[in-house]
Amino acid sequence: MTINRRNFLILISATVGYMTLGACQASEDNSSSSSTSSITTSTPKIETEIAQNTGVFQLTPLPYEYDALEPYIDAKTMQFHHDKHYAGYIKKLNTAIAKYPELQDKSAEDLLRNLNTLPEDIRNAVKNNGGGYVNHKMFWEIMTPNGGGQPEGKIANAIQESFSSFDDFKAQFNQAGLNRFGSGWAWLVLNKDGKLEITNTPNQDSPLLAGNYPIMGNDVWEHAYYLKYQNRRSDYLNAWWNVVNWPEINRRYETAIS
Ligand SMILES: [Fe+2]
Repeated sequence: MTINRRNFLILISATVGYMTLGACQASEDNSSSSSTSSITTSTPKIETEIAQNTGVFQLTPLPYEYDALEPYIDAKTMQFHHDKHYAGYIKKLNTAIAKYPELQDKSAEDLLRNLNTLPEDIRNAVKNNGGGYVNHKMFWEIMTPNGGGQPEGKIANAIQESFSSFDDFKAQFNQAGLNRFGSGWAWLVLNKDGKLEITNTPNQDSPLLAGNYPIMGNDVWEHAYYLKYQNRRSDYLNAWWNVVNWPEINRRYETAIS
């Protein structure tokens, strides 16, 4: 097999990803058991992840430990959510675009913005799995340990002007999450008119599909909360504000209005 430059970069990327994931897994396992046995028992899981880490879109580790958002979001939920659900969207997105080389230098955001121009046979797969990829990529980044509190920066003023108060904003956002029947997302978007708007979408539909920019979103699929909260979606929605990363959300807002 000829190894061209692109294959070489993918090979290097996969190797680094393997080492990073291995280090994360070993670190987490070390917290509760001896390192030798934990590394041995975790090997199959890492092999599964690296098998998914060879496409155009990459599975990157969480920017914090699985248990970093405790007690609001439990470690087991974060691990399954990231390592299984998120990894699954990435794998299926890579599979969808594999036979279309002309799409492989485009961002997932651009694929979603221009969904109707894509080959019809992959449109639904890109909508679902491209959405799953960009929605969750944002989701990991807009959460942080020791988060919560009040909004800061330009987004704080924009929320105040658009929704009267932060408390009113939170209530409306939570209601959007509760109103979404079945699986989906609650969103704060910058809409096509340049205004902040609270909305929700079904499944993995990205606001980008409708020309809106997602400033922040909360995942209300049961996989995001069921292990800890079971059917109490309202409790999850209320607890989630404790892990919100306002500096990152403000950065997204400033990017959207620039
Ligand atoms: Fe999710």
